[in-house]
Amino acid sequence: DMRTLHAVADLRQAVRDWKRDGLTVGLVPTMGALHEGHLSLVRAALRATDRVIVSIFVNPTQFDNPADLETYPRVMEADARLLAEAGAHVLYAPTVAEMYPSGFATTVSVRGVSDGLCGAHRPGHFDGVATVVCKLFLQSQADASFFGEKDFQQVHVVRRMAADLDIPIRVETCPTVREADGLAMSSRNRRLTGPGDRDRARALPRALEDAARAIADGQSMDRVMATTRDRLLAAGFSDVEYLDLRREADLAPVARFDGRPARLLVAAWLAGVRLIDNVPVLPA
Ligand code: PAJ
Repeated sequence: DMRTLHAVADLRQAVRDWKRDGLTVGLVPTMGALHEGHLSLVRAALRATDRVIVSIFVNPTQFDNPADLETYPRVMEADARLLAEAGAHVLYAPTVAEMYPSGFATTVSVRGVSDGLCGAHRPGHFDGVATVVCKLFLQSQADASFFGEKDFQQVHVVRRMAADLDIPIRVETCPTVREADGLAMSSRNRRLTGPGDRDRARALPRALEDAARAIADGQSMDRVMATTRDRLLAAGFSDVEYLDLRREADLAPVARFDGRPARLLVAAWLAGVRLIDNVPVLPA
């Protein structure tokens, strides 16, 4: 049976009991409004560890836009039901006061990998992510943690943070889970409510796939990037925030694809909703 805990002390007690029994612990950090993408992480955690904690915390410090924080979907009861069905052992849902008591003054900031891409357009975002994930790692003392490739830069930030701070936890990644039409699942997709918005959104994964293939085929980067941007704007996107090819291993910019593993990453706005996605670029 799944337990719901709100306090750090209670979480620590649960973990202490498990570890005393020799059980391994997995952690899946989320902000709730759960979908199949999140649940795929929970299932990966259940396969890899004996006891699974799923955290739901809409972390205010990682929102650069107050309206986004305010309208972020919050559906705790439905989430709890999904997690119990999936077989999670603990739902950890701390309050903002539990995570950031008055006087809180520490920020974890990961240089380099936090710069560019989403970091360039969302000031402070990855400091907020690194700080809250660091806290969740230390609070849970989990053996392994599970993150989605959908947030590719986030994975790099989290890995770097855990390595730099000597936090003894494995950081595992799971592939992006998509809707039938290719759109990457996201809690923010629920905001695509205008007529036709949801249909227009499918242009994003399609354009990305085609661009990745064109790059792998050796077409000029400038041309592929320009064509892809135009295609998204023509499909009804209002802005392409970035479209960038990076090295898989360290997110270093790639000026010309040379066959080494790379990722094509995009952030684009549709109907006031910011969508991100990324795909691998593999040698043809
Ligand atoms: P959230 O957006 O709720 O995502 C929680 C986890 O689910 C992240 O690791 C994310 O990459 C993964 N995820 C989201 N959509 C996915 C999809 N379509 N396929 C596979 N995995 C997917 O990311 C966060 O929350 C926060 O930044 C957090 C790490 C919890 C820190 O506050």
